[in-house]
Amino acid sequence: MAKLWAGRTDGTTNQLADDFNSSIHFDSRMYKQDITGSMAHAAMLGAQGIIGKDEADTLIDGLQGILDDLDSGALAFDMTCEDIHMFVEQELTARLGDVGKKLHTARSRNDQVALDIRMYLREVVDEVDAMLGELIAVLVDRAEQDKATILPGYTHLQRAQPITFGHHLMAYVFMLLRDRERLQDCRRRMNLSPIGSCALAGTTYNTDRRFEAEKLGFDGICLNSLDGVSDRDFCVELMSAYALLMMHLSRFSEELILWSSWEFRFVELSDDYTTGSSIMPQKKNPDMAELVRGKTGRVYGDLMALLTTLKGLPLAYNKDMQEDKESVFDACDTVRQCLPVFTGMVATMTVRADNMKQAAAGGFINATDLADYLVRKGLPFRSAYKISGQIVADCIAKHELLETLPLADYKRYSDLFDEDIYEAVDLTVCAEKRTSEGGTSVQSVEAQIAYVRGRL
Ligand code: ARG
Repeated sequence: MAKLWAGRTDGTTNQLADDFNSSIHFDSRMYKQDITGSMAHAAMLGAQGIIGKDEADTLIDGLQGILDDLDSGALAFDMTCEDIHMFVEQELTARLGDVGKKLHTARSRNDQVALDIRMYLREVVDEVDAMLGELIAVLVDRAEQDKATILPGYTHLQRAQPITFGHHLMAYVFMLLRDRERLQDCRRRMNLSPIGSCALAGTTYNTDRRFEAEKLGFDGICLNSLDGVSDRDFCVELMSAYALLMMHLSRFSEELILWSSWEFRFVELSDDYTTGSSIMPQKKNPDMAELVRGKTGRVYGDLMALLTTLKGLPLAYNKDMQEDKESVFDACDTVRQCLPVFTGMVATMTVRADNMKQAAAGGFINATDLADYLVRKGLPFRSAYKISGQIVADCIAKHELLETLPLADYKRYSDLFDEDIYEAVDLTVCAEKRTSEGGTSVQSVEAQIAYVRGRL
C-alpha cells in the first residue's frame, strides 16, 4: 500500500525494506501516549486558529474514538503501517475524511515520537518508583524484626565482625533509596515537552508549545528544537538508574543464593519462590534470585546498546534513533518483572537466626573487640592488635574460642586481662556496643529505620 508520505516518491517500497523500516510492532505500545499527545496538538491548533475550532473538536472526538476502540479491542493495529504515528493518522483519516489530514499540521513524527517516549517512560518511572517503595517497606519491616539477630559480617567473604541482620538489610534499603532518588531526578529532566520542535527547526505557524506541554502534564518545554528532537539522554539516564538498581538487586540476590545454600543456611526461601530439580530430589533452587542476578546483565546490555547507537549521531533526527525503543522498553519490562518477584521472595523468606548465631560464634569475629578491650585498659591499639592475633592463633591450635579460653591463658599474654574479658567478647555485647551513628547496634539500626520511615 502507498505510504502516507507518498509524494516525492510513489510511496511503495521493497517488502524487505518495509519490514526492516517498520517499528509498529514495538512502538504500538505507546498508542495511548500518541493519541493523547495528538488530542492536545489538535486542541492547540484550534485554540491558535491554525485550524477551525470545530475541526479541532472533530479531530479530538475522532482520536478519542480510536483510543476507546484500541482499549476495548474493537480496533486492531494495522501491522502494515510503518509506525504507531502513521497508524493513528491513517485510521483517523479513514474515519473522518479530509479533516483527519489536518492533524499533522505544525508537527513532525520527530517531535511526536520524542513526546510519546517521554510520556510513556514517565509513567513507567512512577510505576517502578512505587515498586521500589514496596520493596523498601518490606525490608524495613524485616530489619525491625531482626534488629537484634546476630550474624557474622563479612569482608573478603571471610567472617569479620558480628553484625545484626537488621543492619545488613538496612544497607540495601539505603541503596534502594538512592535508586529512587536517581529515578526521580531523571524524571525531572524527562518531563519537558519536545512537541512543537517539529522536524528540527520549529515552525512558521503561530503555535503555542506551552499550551500543549501544560495540557500533557509537562513541567516545561525543551528550549531548543534541534535538541528537542535529538535528545535521548533521558532514556540513557533512566537505563543508567536501572543498571544501578539491578546491580543492587543482583548483589542482594547473590547473598540470598549463598545464604540459602546448605553451607550457610542463614535463610530459607519459601516454596513459592524456589524450584526443584528434575533429577535431584533433594534440591530447592533459588531460581528467582539467580534470574534477577542474570537479568542484570541484560539491563546493562540495553544501556550499552543505546549509548552505542547514539554515539556519533549528527543532529538532528536520524533513523538510528528508532532503535532507542526496543532497548529502553526491554529494560523497563525487565525491571518491572524483577522487582515484584524480588519483593515477594524477601517478604516470604524465613530467617534462621540460630544458624546465623552459630556461624558468628565460630570465626573469631570478636577479635577486634578483644583488641579494643586491651586498648580500653591502656595498651596502644597496634600492640593490642598483635597480642589479640597471637591469642587467636593459640585458640585455633587448642580448639578453643575467645569465649572459652581460660583466664590463666589470657594472662600469659597480658596482666591487663581480667574476668570482664568474657563479657567483652560476648557476641551480642560486641554488636550492642557498636552504637556509633550508622553502626550495627540495635539502637543505631532503630535510628536508621526511623529515618527511612520518616522519608517513606
Ligand atoms: N518510527 C520513528 C521512530 O521511532 C518515528 C520517527 C520517524 N521520523 C522520520 N522522519 N522518519 O523514531
